[in-house]
Amino acid sequence: MLNKKTIDDIDVKGKVVLLRCDFNVPMKDGKITDDTRIVAALPTIAKLSGDGGRVMICSHLGKPKGTVNEELTLAPVAQRLSELLGQEVLFLKDDEVVGAHATWFKSNMVEGQVVLLENTRFRPEEEKNEDSFSQELASLCDVYVNDAFGTAHRAHCSTAGVAKYVKESAIGYLIEKEIQFLGNALDDPVRPLAAILGGSKVSSKISVIDRLLEKVDILIIGGGMAYTFIKAKGGKIGKSLVEDDYLEYAVNMEKKAEEKGVKLLLPVDTVIASELSNDVPYETVDIMNIPDDQMGVDIGEKSIKLFEDALKDVKTVIWNGPMGVFEVPHFAEGTKQIAKTLAEMDAITIIGGGDSAAAVNELGYGDKMTLISTGGGASLEFLEGKELPGITAIQDK
Ligand code: 3PG
Repeated sequence: MLNKKTIDDIDVKGKVVLLRCDFNVPMKDGKITDDTRIVAALPTIAKLSGDGGRVMICSHLGKPKGTVNEELTLAPVAQRLSELLGQEVLFLKDDEVVGAHATWFKSNMVEGQVVLLENTRFRPEEEKNEDSFSQELASLCDVYVNDAFGTAHRAHCSTAGVAKYVKESAIGYLIEKEIQFLGNALDDPVRPLAAILGGSKVSSKISVIDRLLEKVDILIIGGGMAYTFIKAKGGKIGKSLVEDDYLEYAVNMEKKAEEKGVKLLLPVDTVIASELSNDVPYETVDIMNIPDDQMGVDIGEKSIKLFEDALKDVKTVIWNGPMGVFEVPHFAEGTKQIAKTLAEMDAITIIGGGDSAAAVNELGYGDKMTLISTGGGASLEFLEGKELPGITAIQDK
């Protein structure tokens, strides 16, 4: 159980609260294309503002790498946040983030007011977690609250460093909820517990596979990473994605699954194509026998059925990573069917962030899942059992 102070443990009335959110939202032509992360931050903002806090929010957006980049300004987020919150959220346009506007508002905000600072990554110190910028951020506030779950795996000034220089710190409701669901699913699950892993690389999921094999009853592996496992079993995988350095690892994981009594399932058939395009012919073949000039791009119907059957009596399922090249419509069926299966299950369903979360939302199953994590990298690192610096930095209860 998490022993960190939460916003229910602190009194913010009349205090300036620096709230770190993850407003790293997808944008196209200056418009927000998915506001899930803004919506997810609303309960914490409403609580702090409703309790009479003077709320200064900060966040990063994209990767401006320490320079001012007008395409990555948080101004559109302030506008969307105002609409969602039903209250004006002023945008403080200081390119140095902590500048004349922020300093003025620190002394002149009224209770309940909410303002948004500029992109913290406009400052070169942010990602290096340099004390100077952490101190500047701390100088703005009486209390620091971190609710940026999606960025909790980064030790940056605004996610971790600042906490060293404030008298009081706490986590917000979003971090509390994410940790509670992800933590319970692993440490105190309603069983049977299944995990479904997909995505392109085995190398990015090594620690998570290892750790999940200690916890789950069933582990399903799909997506690009499956072909490394298939090659390790002697399959012919054509020009499918493969990481030859991980063939031995794949064999070891199969052994480990056997030792631990975990049912490890791999696809049995696969959709193949000559390239990653919606305009080329595609067909489904046995996954052990992919022609040399073709690559696996999705799981096939038999695999979908195999995975669905395995999930039938499962009571908790964690899913991270798509089953195929979801961005190409012809290769999206496996991911769609798994999303549908999960949406219809009478079970706790937890979707790790990133691509699988985007897929579930795009397919309209968002409200059918127990939790869709707002953190891709952060939820993966949490599942790996790694410490999240943005949470560690917060004061204990
Ligand atoms: C994310 O979108 O995963 C988080 O906002 C973290 O962003 P980053 O990978 O640029 O640090």
